[in-house]
Amino acid sequence: MLQLTLNDFSLEHFMEHYWQQKPVVIRQGFPHFKDLISPEDLAGLACEEEVESRRVFKTDDKWQAEVGPFESYGHLGKTGWSLIVQAVNHWSPEVAELVKPFAFIPKWRLDDVMISYSTPQGGVGPHIDLYDVFICQGSGRRNWRVGDKGEHRQFAAHAALLHVDPFEAIIDVELLPGDILYIPPGFPHDGVSLETSMSFSVGFRAKSACDMLSGLADYVIDKELGSTLLADPQRPIHQHQGQINAADFARIKAQLQSILDNDTLVADFAGSFLSKTKCVLDLQALDAPLEPAELLAALAEQPLVRTGGLRCFYLDATVAQGVCYVDGERYAFGPACHPAVLALCDEESLTPALLGAGLQSPAFVSALAQWVNGGYWYFLD
Ligand code: SIN
Ligand code: CO
Repeated sequence: MLQLTLNDFSLEHFMEHYWQQKPVVIRQGFPHFKDLISPEDLAGLACEEEVESRRVFKTDDKWQAEVGPFESYGHLGKTGWSLIVQAVNHWSPEVAELVKPFAFIPKWRLDDVMISYSTPQGGVGPHIDLYDVFICQGSGRRNWRVGDKGEHRQFAAHAALLHVDPFEAIIDVELLPGDILYIPPGFPHDGVSLETSMSFSVGFRAKSACDMLSGLADYVIDKELGSTLLADPQRPIHQHQGQINAADFARIKAQLQSILDNDTLVADFAGSFLSKTKCVLDLQALDAPLEPAELLAALAEQPLVRTGGLRCFYLDATVAQGVCYVDGERYAFGPACHPAVLALCDEESLTPALLGAGLQSPAFVSALAQWVNGGYWYFLD
């Protein structure tokens, strides 16, 4: 297993002084790091319809970006271009391993592992991300410049490429294989490959209030909640017909607030919403679906592995009731399944010992069988 090595400070120090606050270079964070996928396999993934990918290069000094899937690479030459593939952890178990060393940050904050293959002088240009990102340098060397947070003008260098104006660097380094560059959101940065190189970016993203509210609105509509009409019995005589007076404004706010004050509703929304994946999962449904009894027999022989990128969470308030959220859906298995739900959401692979009494629950075993049959968890053999 990949082990994150911090030579200059502790993880606690990192979280207190750098996380979400300032960029830092972690030299040899992954000593002896080897590429987790070959350039050929990465290029192959970018030929698939379901995989999100981009190619970035310049022609006559003008930035260009193309969106995959791609059919060929032969015409691109040996320098000045990059191939960027999103969510490779969904498609490659080896790449999914890179998420594990970052388990000190909860999975609901994780976005994906993005990989870029760059030829010499390749890069995507100076830009700002909404992400916290750990850029782990694989093979080859790459120069990274990072500027300070501040007022940076952004502009479309190409319809699909948002850049920033030139910035003064607060970090200007050459990353070598095994080095990691951590960049919080809002810091402009620019990585230019010095030779053919691979970068593995573990990205974390927080939703904006706008994302959350629009998700909540969809959830409330889907579940047919919040249909109680605003009520104003014993309304006093209104003086000015055009006025929404302070009392009415308070009623309107209270109506909206009643949704946010409903902890069960907000918890179920948050669990469901945050457990939905942004990118497609590589779900390999079983040709011959397993019955629950067959599943238990197979599980006695080998662990179940969670498919890369699958999101499953629980909340402190309801986990004792065996409530969890898997890929956007809420499940309630009852108190006896509490330990099983913890294992399901916290562990990458499941054994009978971890699932414990959950395996006595027909509801839990039946859900597990459905997940396995649908490819959400799988047996290695
Ligand atoms: C890249 O790896 O080419 C881009 C990564 C980034 O700057 O976000
Ligand atoms: Co970036």
